[in-house]
Amino acid sequence: MNQINAKNYSVNFEENGFNGLDIIIKKKLYSSIFVLVDSNTNKECIPVFEKKISTSFDFKVIEIEHGEENKTIRSCEKVWATLSDSGGDRKSLLINLGGGVITDIGGFIASTFKRGIDFINIPTTLLSMVDASIGGKTGIDFGNLKNQIGVINDPKLVIIDLVFLKSLPIKELKSGYSEMLKHGLISDKKYWSGISTLLMEKKIPGINEIFNSIKIKNEIVLDDPYEKHKRKVLNFGHTIGHAIESFFMDSKTHKNLTHGESIAIGMIIEAHISFNICKLDISEAKEIKKVFNSIFNIVKISESEFNQILSFLKFDKKNSHGKTNFVLLKKIGSPVIDIQVPDKKIKEGFEFYLS
Ligand SMILES: NC(=O)c1ccc[n+]([C@@H]2O[C@H](COP(=O)([O-])OP(=O)(O)OC[C@H]3O[C@@H](n4cnc5c(N)ncnc54)[C@H](O)[C@@H]3O)[C@@H](O)[C@H]2O)c1
Repeated sequence: MNQINAKNYSVNFEENGFNGLDIIIKKKLYSSIFVLVDSNTNKECIPVFEKKISTSFDFKVIEIEHGEENKTIRSCEKVWATLSDSGGDRKSLLINLGGGVITDIGGFIASTFKRGIDFINIPTTLLSMVDASIGGKTGIDFGNLKNQIGVINDPKLVIIDLVFLKSLPIKELKSGYSEMLKHGLISDKKYWSGISTLLMEKKIPGINEIFNSIKIKNEIVLDDPYEKHKRKVLNFGHTIGHAIESFFMDSKTHKNLTHGESIAIGMIIEAHISFNICKLDISEAKEIKKVFNSIFNIVKISESEFNQILSFLKFDKKNSHGKTNFVLLKKIGSPVIDIQVPDKKIKEGFEFYLS
């Protein structure tokens, strides 16, 4: 268990990861190497990274401020300028060392600088290990809407090393649990039950659970890299979740909601919609709610806030022909895609979440 193969790259674990990095760097003869970090991963992860790399190669660290609010075109401009001023060219390599914000924005910056340079993801949050760094989606937020601008482009390598999680705050660790649980909900009831039991017992998922989570996502992406059909299942919880995240990003209340917390709320609401529309057994909807409520506190969202959140749905990336498409569940492990939902049913899902 030290490697998972994606279409154009591999996800290498621990020592095998840093060996893979050595091999690529020796083989590709890069003209220059840059490491993109945010202000937290510069402090916490660069010292670990330096110890991990066995060959000595020169690299320049480029830092942006941490946080979703910096996943913007302004941060891109700053990094593109630094790359350009530091002699970056088409044979440069960008290593993204950070959470999902860094792997998303770094992948986008690399994919567009000089019409595309190589990049490698070294995720340092649980969420970016099991989700954001895998599957080739890169991008930035724009005009208050998440991931509105971006491209699908694969990294050359992804390195998963749990050593980086040592400095990760518990709130961020929990955010990663949401995506792991989602992987179970959309494809594997056994995996869902295993992870939820661990989490309900306040145990921390380890390398095996992380490996299996990445395997689930990778298999879905291999089947449908450009999200024409099957890949859409990865958006379970995200239609409502992204609207919640986008809304609170710019509001005074709940400004610090993590991505995982937002999509956990989305999954509870969408589980109830699944009960209403796809005949998901109510006991499974309640089980989903119970598991997420054991991880996250209930966020008090007022009715007027919820009405504003609903208005964000019309900007959802998955919309087509003016319609908002949901991923719902027939059963835990059996998703259905492209379902349209009346506002009334969304409202009932919201009441179920708050009840
Ligand atoms: N591309 C995809 O397929 C995909 C999938 C899921 C999520 N995402 C994106 O991922 C982003 C969320 O990722 P995230 O939750 O990793 O957020 P993040 O990158 O903002 O990281 C969370 C916080 O943890 C800090 N941090 C990161 N690693 C650390 C470490 N090892 N020690 C201490 N602090 C550390 C960061 O500085 C940040 O403050 C969102 O923008 C979301 O849209 C993308």
